[in-house]
Amino acid sequence: MGVDDCYNIRDLRRLAERRLPAPIFNYIDGGADDERSLRRNTDVFDDYELMPRVLVDTTKIDLRTKVLGSEIDLPLFLSPTAFNKLFHHDAEAAAARVAEKFGTIYGLSTLATTSIEDIAKVNQGPKLFQVYVFKDRGLTREFVARCKAARFTAMALTVDVPIAGNRERDYYTGMSMPPRPTLKSWASFVLHPEWSLNMLLHPEFGVANVRSSAQSGISGSISVIDYINQQFDRSITWKDAEWLAQEWGGPLAIKGVHTAEDAKCAHESGASAVMVSNHGGRQLDSVPGVLDMIPPIVDAVGGEIEVICDGGVRRGTHVLKALALGATACSTGRGYLYGLAAGGARGVERALTLLKAEIERDMILLGCNSVSEISRAHIQRRR
Ligand code: FNR
Ligand code: LAC
Repeated sequence: MGVDDCYNIRDLRRLAERRLPAPIFNYIDGGADDERSLRRNTDVFDDYELMPRVLVDTTKIDLRTKVLGSEIDLPLFLSPTAFNKLFHHDAEAAAARVAEKFGTIYGLSTLATTSIEDIAKVNQGPKLFQVYVFKDRGLTREFVARCKAARFTAMALTVDVPIAGNRERDYYTGMSMPPRPTLKSWASFVLHPEWSLNMLLHPEFGVANVRSSAQSGISGSISVIDYINQQFDRSITWKDAEWLAQEWGGPLAIKGVHTAEDAKCAHESGASAVMVSNHGGRQLDSVPGVLDMIPPIVDAVGGEIEVICDGGVRRGTHVLKALALGATACSTGRGYLYGLAAGGARGVERALTLLKAEIERDMILLGCNSVSEISRAHIQRRR
C-alpha cells in the first residue's frame, strides 16, 4: 500500500503507523494525560451539522481567502511542527515545497530540523515562523531579524507551552531525540528497517534554528519533554507579545488562545490573528475541542482580528464547519504530518490533494461558491 492508495487522512495515518517505529509514531499521534482534548478536537465537529442550500449555480468555486497578510488558494494551511526529520529524511523542506505548490502558508517551528534560511530556498510562497521564547532571550530578536531577511510573511507566538504537557506515550515508548535505541524501543527500530536505514544514511539532526547558540542544548539524546522544560522561558507575558508585535511589524498570530478574554488581550498586544488551539491536545488536557472555542472568540473579536481554527481538522467538512462558525481559515498539524511520515513530499501532497478536493466538493454540495459565502446559516448544533 502506498500513499496513492490512501483516500483520506485516516488512511495516511495508518500508513504512517506502519512506516514509523513506535516512539516516533506515538510522538506525532499522542496527546497529554488521558488524551481527552486530543479526541475531543476531532469529535467536536460531529456536534455540528451542515445545512446546505440547493439549486445554487456552483460551476465556479473559489477557495481563496486572505489570512496573515497573504492571499491563499485554500482556507487551510500547515501548522508549525517540531523535529520533522524524525518523520521523514526530507523533513520540513518536503512540506514547505508542497505548501507552496498548493498556494498556502507553510508554518515553520522554532524546533524545526531545517533552518529559516534553508526553508526560504525551497519556498517562495507565504510562510510563517513560529516562535518559542527560550531562556536565552537574544534568540527571539535573532529569529525576527532572520525572518525579515528570509522574507517570511508572518510570525506566530506559541503561548500554550510554559511547560511540556504530560505525553505519557513518550514515556511508554522511550521517545528521545536524536532517536537512540533503548531497552524499550530497540525492537521497534529493528522492525522498521527502512526508517532506521534512512536515519543512518541521514544522521545529521539538530534544532536547526538555534544551532548557532550555546542554548541549542542537544548533546547526546534527550526527551522532547526534558528539552522543553530546560530551554523554554516560563516568565513570558503579554508584554513580550507586545514587544514581538512591534519588533516584527508584520502579521503576527498568538497561537494557543482558548478564551475570548485572551483573544482580546492578543488584539490589544498588536497581534493580527489568534490561532485558537490546544496544541493538538498535547498540552493541558480537558480543555475544550477547538471548534467549541471558536464562536465565543468570533463573537468577542471577530472583525478586529483573524481567527484561525487549529486542531482536529481531518476532513473538508471540518474546514467548512469552522468557516461557518466564523473562522477566517483553518490549519492542520497531523493532517500533513501523517502524509510526511507515510511518504515524504508525495505523502504531504496526497494529504493536501485529498483535503483540497474534499473542501471543493463539500462547498459545491453546501451550495457555496466562495469562502466568504459560508455563514452561520449553513450550520446548526446537532439536536
Ligand atoms: C505540534 N505542534 C506544535 N506547535 C507549535 O507551536 N510548535 C511546535 O513546535 C509544534 N510541534 C508539534 C509537533 C507535533 C508532532 C504535533 C502533532 C504538533 C502543534 C501544531 O502546531 C498544531 O497546533 C496541532 O498539530 C493542531 O492539531 P492537529 O491538526 O494535529 O489536530
Ligand atoms: C510538541 C512541541 C515540541 O508539541 O511543540 O511536541
